[in-house]
Amino acid sequence: MKALLPLFACLALFFVLAPMPEAPLPDDEKGEAVFLEQSCDRCHAVPAAALLAKPQQEGDHGPALDKLGEKYNPRALRRFIKYADVAEGMSGVPHKKEFKGTDEELQALVDWLLEQKSE
Ligand code: HEC
Repeated sequence: MKALLPLFACLALFFVLAPMPEAPLPDDEKGEAVFLEQSCDRCHAVPAAALLAKPQQEGDHGPALDKLGEKYNPRALRRFIKYADVAEGMSGVPHKKEFKGTDEELQALVDWLLEQKSE
């Protein structure tokens, strides 16, 4: 048994030093992470997630994003965010912000936005 000790020690060390694989974020947190990474919060508050807008320059303002699920379907919202496409029912003003993330990030962002409703 004693002879195996160094082996156990090596094994223990391996698990301590081996880099932990980054655990993927659950989807609801991923959407919020994308929102912050893409600096959407420069212009938009999200009341339901207690996120305030943090304008960085003059002209940084937009409507609070709330209850979008009652107004838009996922497809319209994806098009609007990705292509600044003026989707049906939108204000008619093209979006000032071009989305630079991947389609997967866009999907997480849209799913998350559609879930945000404050009372
Ligand atoms: C430079 C400021 C700015 C940034 C940054 C910005 N937006 Fe906007 N956004 C606006 C303005 C202004 C409007 C309102 C005019 C319009 O509908 O285009 C708007 C409208 C919207 C709407 C429609 C809201 C509604 O109730 O109809 C959504 C959804 C939206 N933005 C999402 C985003 C997302 C997601 C990001 C980050 C990828 C983002 N915006 C970044 C300024 C900004």
